[in-house]
Order: sequence, then structure tokens, then C-alpha cells
Amino acid sequence: MKNTGPESTVARAAPGVGGAGLRPAGAGAGEGREMELEQGVAEILIDEATLRGRLVELGAEISADYAGRDLLLVGVLKGAVFFMADLMRELTVSCEIDFMAISSYGAATDSSGVVRILKDLDINVSGRDVLVVEDIIDSGLTLSYLMRNLRARKPASLEIAALLTKPERREIDVPVRYVGFEIPNRFVIGYGLDFAERYRNLPYVAVLHPDLVPNTT
Ligand code: IMP
Ligand code: MG
Repeated sequence: MKNTGPESTVARAAPGVGGAGLRPAGAGAGEGREMELEQGVAEILIDEATLRGRLVELGAEISADYAGRDLLLVGVLKGAVFFMADLMRELTVSCEIDFMAISSYGAATDSSGVVRILKDLDINVSGRDVLVVEDIIDSGLTLSYLMRNLRARKPASLEIAALLTKPERREIDVPVRYVGFEIPNRFVIGYGLDFAERYRNLPYVAVLHPDLVPNTT
């Protein structure tokens, strides 16, 4: 059930000007919304400063590689939106963006291997320099399907930028040109990554609290 009812508006009062320590009424004695989100967090894996630093590096690398080319960033909804928005602001080359939505997990934490296009691109990628932007590569099944599908549309070039990769979990080889961070085999949330559609708005990447991890192997 979406939390859009009037009962939720009390927690959305405007923050105090200049961070003067004012708390919205009704947020209680704790940290309000932050506190609520942090209940899902076991530990912070990649903090905001580290994310920002790596994005600057990736931005410089991609800008150098794509200088004078016809770059189209293809974001995979929904998780890649945050990474893509921050990454593209580090690019010094002109670029377009478009998005695809593909089904992977549902509410569980394991890939089914069944991939379906829920939303296709609006832009024709034929002859374009396409860089697929993904939040995380786990088994690799989702991206492997997507790359095959996009390759058939004859782009001039086709590469992947992934914020995170879990090499231990890989079931199929996917050549990833730009990787933000290699992480261990833990289920992570935040900075776009969700658990059952929640926690995307955490500003850092965190390990999901073990009490919430479903029993899948
Ligand atoms: P793959 O097909 O197994 O590589 O799955 C990739 C997709 O699964 C990603 O785009 C994410 O949406 C999701 N995913 C995989 N691992 C995680 C995780 O640790 N946290 C949140 N989502 C994940
Ligand atoms: Mg995803």
C-alpha cells in the first residue's frame, strides 16, 4: 500500500531554515524520517563522500573516452536513476538520456532469470554510442539479456557503466567497461537500490538489515 494518505503528511513538514535544528512536529524525539529509514540498515557500505569521489573519477574517465562522440546514456529503471543523474552531471561531453524498464526481481532478492521489457526506449539507438547505466550487477542475467537486445539494434558502440558489481554472484559473463565499486555478496539498499521498492532514497549504499533479508539462497 502506498503511503500517500493524509496521515503521512505530518512527517513532511518543511525543514528548519539553515538546518537550525528545528524538527517537524510529530516526528517524535528521534531523527524523524531518517530514523525510520535507518531501521532497514545493518551497516553503511559506501558513504556519501566515497560515492561522490568515485563519481568524479568515473565522470572524468567517461568524458575522456567519449569526447567528440554521440553519447546516449540508457538508464535501467528504476535503481539507476540516482547514479545516472549524478554521473551525467560529472560529464563534460554532451549527451542524451533515455530509459528502459525491465522486470527482474519483484519483491524477492534473487534473480528469476526471466526478463521482460516493461518500458522500451523512445530514442532509436542505431548508429549511436550507447552507454547502459545500471545500479548493480548481480547474476548478470538481466544485463546480459539487455545487451543482446540492444546489440541487435545496431548501435555504433555499446558499453556498460555499473555503480556496483557483486563478482561472487555472477552466473553469466557481462563485460562491464566502467565499475563504481566491487562489493561482497550482501544485499544492499540505498542510492537507488531498493528492497521491495523501499530505501532507494537513502543517500548512501548500505547492507540491508538481516531481519529483513528473506530466506532465499
Ligand atoms: P541480475 O540479473 O541478477 O544481475 O540482477 C540485477 C538487478 O537485480 C539489479 O538491477 C537490481 O535491480 C537487482 N539487485 C541485485 N542485487 C541487489 C541488491 O543487493 N540490492 C538491491 N537490488 C539488487
Ligand atoms: Mg535494477
